Amino acid sequence: MADTLNLAKIRSDFPILDQQVNGKPLIYFDNAATTQKPKVVIDALNLYYQKDNANIHRGIHALAERATAAYELTRKKIANYINSPSIEQVIITSGTTGSINLVAQTFGRTFIGKGDQILISNLEHHSNIVPWQMIADEKGAEIKVIPVADNGELDIQTYKTLLNERVKLVAVNQVSNAIGTINPIEEMIQLAHEVGAKVLIDGAQSVAHFEIDVQALDIDFLAFSAHKLFGPTGVGVLYGKRELLEAMPPYQGGGEMIKEVSFERTTYNELPYKFEAGTPNIADVIAFGASFDYLASLPKNAIWEQEMELLNYATNKLQAIDGLKIIGQAKNKIAVISFLIDGIHPQDIGVLLDKYGIAIRTGHHCAQPLMQRFDIVGTCRASFAFYNTKEEIDAFVVALQKVVNMLA
Ligand SMILES: Cc1ncc(COP(=O)(O)O)c(C=O)c1O
Repeated sequence: MADTLNLAKIRSDFPILDQQVNGKPLIYFDNAATTQKPKVVIDALNLYYQKDNANIHRGIHALAERATAAYELTRKKIANYINSPSIEQVIITSGTTGSINLVAQTFGRTFIGKGDQILISNLEHHSNIVPWQMIADEKGAEIKVIPVADNGELDIQTYKTLLNERVKLVAVNQVSNAIGTINPIEEMIQLAHEVGAKVLIDGAQSVAHFEIDVQALDIDFLAFSAHKLFGPTGVGVLYGKRELLEAMPPYQGGGEMIKEVSFERTTYNELPYKFEAGTPNIADVIAFGASFDYLASLPKNAIWEQEMELLNYATNKLQAIDGLKIIGQAKNKIAVISFLIDGIHPQDIGVLLDKYGIAIRTGHHCAQPLMQRFDIVGTCRASFAFYNTKEEIDAFVVALQKVVNMLA
């Protein structure tokens, strides 16, 4: 139950929340852009640099062995979190963007050809659009787009009609960052597999809110970022089915991804190292491991229940503001509210809310085609995490009303 979350304790776990911004207590409602980090993650980062800093995998001294073990432990925790059948199928990258580009440049370049189709949706973040446009241009393939209905849900009937044997890949997010829609990926994956297409799930916005089981969902590729899961920036994950990862050529060449190098012939390392060239972001990967420990310390389902309570509470309160319109009212959505207020530019609202210590996001949210779909330039977006409170929402609504009075 939501009330089993001890919010006072939880908030004290996130040191950044305890500060004043512009003379007011910080209210951080920009969690879809990046989440805050619990102290255990920050401590793990510090501790690594104070005690264990060394390059990994090749060293034989104590520090190198400790750093390698800690790095590989994070891989195990990731595998466990998403229920990957093996740790070798967990590739550590620089972020969701890095993971999607890896698939585009390896799977895409190898298995997508002239006349093939890549299916994406109108809900995608630019990082799940542009890499596919680049590959489509290079290969002479075609991009097709699953449309979005007025309420912000994907049009699954049209999706079914778009599926055919020319579709080699369906690349969709599980949750829209711009409007919060949760897509029915289980059904979408099953339908894609019926025509032989592979499916990449952009999990950037889902992994922090509910569990995702790559085996139960039969996901071919899953991409996500540590920084949206209470971990550090600069780290991401690509999960892939073993047979796909094995069939894909390496992405970048360099140290660690090789077995043997000579000027005549180079052989490549096993999974996952084949895709991890060069010295990785060791410290942040190790600190990311602490995010999973932190999440495991919270009562099961409590994050989801707390966030749904915040979503319903804020949605009701916001609707009392004259001229406010919520963009994206999908039946299933995460605690993200994208809104517009008649006659007021979203950026003006964001700038003035900051004066009240309230951090929201304004603009196109890296989803310009979605903004075009709704014929708007952008929105204001408040996105909640489990450490947010109803009192913060009350203060936000009061401040927003003052901003509206000022600007209207
Ligand atoms: C749905 C979605 N996909 C991809 C990304 C890109 O993530 P990153 O910038 O961490 O690579 C984001 C970031 O906002 C996102 O929300």
